[in-house]
Amino acid sequence: MLFVWDDTCKTGIVEIDQDHKGLVNLINDLYEAMQDGSGGALLLPIFSALKHYTEMHFAKEERYMLRCDAPDQEKHIQEHELMVAKLADLEKRHRNGEAAISLQALTFLRDWLKNHICVVDKAMTAQPKDKGNAQGE
Ligand SMILES: [Fe+2]
Ligand SMILES: [Fe+2]
Repeated sequence: MLFVWDDTCKTGIVEIDQDHKGLVNLINDLYEAMQDGSGGALLLPIFSALKHYTEMHFAKEERYMLRCDAPDQEKHIQEHELMVAKLADLEKRHRNGEAAISLQALTFLRDWLKNHICVVDKAMTAQPKDKGNAQGE
C-alpha cells in the first residue's frame, strides 16, 4: 500500500471524506497495478478513473466552498487547477507513449494529495458559515 489513510485528515464533511478515501484507494490501485507483473496494462484505465474522480471531487468541493463562503477559495481553486493540469499532462504523455506512469509520478501524486487533504481541505471546513452537505441544491 502506497497511501495509508489517516483519520486525522478527516474534514468532517461525510461526502468529502468519502471522496478522499476513494482517491486514496485509486492511488493504491495504481500502485498495485504497477507491481502485478502485467506490464502496466491496467495503468491507463485506472489513471483515467483517478483523473475523472479527481475532477468530479474538485468540482464538488468548489461548490461547497462557494455555498459556505469558505476562506481562501481562490488559492484553493488554483491548487485544484494545477493538479488537474498535471493529471491531464501525465495521461497525455502516457497515452502517447512518451513516458510511463512512474513510481516517482505516483509518489508525487500521493504526497500532493496528502498535503492538500490534510492542510488545504481541512482548512476549508474549519470555519464555514454553514456546514451543509457537499452536494448542494
Ligand atoms: Fe479534497
Ligand atoms: Fe481541495
